[in-house]
Amino acid sequence: MNILLIGSGGREHALAWKLAQSRRTTKLFAAPGNPGIAQHAELVGLDAADHGAVLTFCDAQRIGLVVIGPEAPLVDGLADTLRGAGVPVFGPSKAAAQLEGSKGFTKDLCARAGIPTGGYERVTNAGDALAALARFGTPVVIKADGLAAGKGVTVAMTLAEAEQAVRDIFDGRFGAAGAEAVIEEFLEGEEASFFALTDGHTVVPFASAQDHKRVGDGDNGPNTGGMGAYSPARVLTPALQAEALSRIIVPTVQTLASEGMPYSGVLFLGLMLTATGPQLIEYNCRFGDPECQVILMRLESDLVELLLACAENRLGAIAPPRFSDEVALTVVMAAVGYPDTPAKGGAIGDLAQAEANGIKVFHAGTALVGGQLVANGGRVLNVTATGMTVAQAQTRAYAAVAKIDFAEGFCRKDIGWREVAREQA
Ligand code: AMP
Ligand code: GLY
Repeated sequence: MNILLIGSGGREHALAWKLAQSRRTTKLFAAPGNPGIAQHAELVGLDAADHGAVLTFCDAQRIGLVVIGPEAPLVDGLADTLRGAGVPVFGPSKAAAQLEGSKGFTKDLCARAGIPTGGYERVTNAGDALAALARFGTPVVIKADGLAAGKGVTVAMTLAEAEQAVRDIFDGRFGAAGAEAVIEEFLEGEEASFFALTDGHTVVPFASAQDHKRVGDGDNGPNTGGMGAYSPARVLTPALQAEALSRIIVPTVQTLASEGMPYSGVLFLGLMLTATGPQLIEYNCRFGDPECQVILMRLESDLVELLLACAENRLGAIAPPRFSDEVALTVVMAAVGYPDTPAKGGAIGDLAQAEANGIKVFHAGTALVGGQLVANGGRVLNVTATGMTVAQAQTRAYAAVAKIDFAEGFCRKDIGWREVAREQA
């Protein structure tokens, strides 16, 4: 079958690598892709925002499955257009993607379904927001309602910070994404991510992971899209996974289905493991980046079979996903200046040497300029290794990082530290 993958980051490179391995795949296309994805797919210059053009391409190339990587085209309804025309799609409808596209939508759904999450208020102007802050005290969390490229959340330790976050949102810093906001109770605990596949009815647990959101070692400095990750997250014990499934994921899927917006695709739960059990921090309507990279390194099942079963509403009829017992860990190499002002154009040396011995270097933000691979984004490379322990995967990943010539890049030196410390305890 011919497959079209939408996206251009490290997540999509990992998806392309795995989709290309399937015996079901005849030809893989990627739009717009990147130089790493080009090793596995034919790149096409399609604009995902132009739904008509994507549909025309699918007709012309007899595409049997579209895999949508990033959230923006999902929240924008690309899956609805394709599905409406009979093209199988992996990814939720516009209505169901509100789980990521509107923080207020998700909090209301949790309230209706009795899903454990922090207390909250939805507000539509600065005055109401400031009044709500007084009721919450500090610390408190302020979130722009819509998609804000990972920058719309402030965990405020002081009232002054909280008030500044409110002003930023309602002064228009996030455009339409800040037309509304959510003021939320601060949750305390360790964070972990859990992924489940669903076709709208059947739910299949997929994998766990943890990432490092802060730019600096020791989890310090500004928030980023993620500086590294590992899977599985052993802190999510089988008991905690079962609880997340029964108290959070299943009620979400059932509620959305019963309200006429069945969710089809991957559900990415951000969980806080609090003293009173796992609570939902947020949902994403796509695979995590870089969590996807480490999860797919461990996946032994055919990815096309799994994603197609979600798209065709027959997830209950196929074998559950199988994963290797190994740990996978990825280190993000970012361009100097990330997350604020990443340097563009930094030259990257030959990656073949780093890829020896089972290492995979996924391209996140790269471009080819006159035959030279260069940085073309904040997060540039994802250097990914496996091992019997996190410590072993970490050692292998950093050994590969050391072989990469990327003078204008940097990485954290401590990806996996929590888990390494637990392993050594
Ligand atoms: P998000 O952009 O929704 O992923 O949120 C970014 C980060 O803010 C999360 O990964 C958490 O570390 C933190 N966060 C979000 N909501 C809460 C909350 N209610 N309590 C504590 N931390 C939170
Ligand atoms: N790494 C976090 C995310 O993909 O949202």
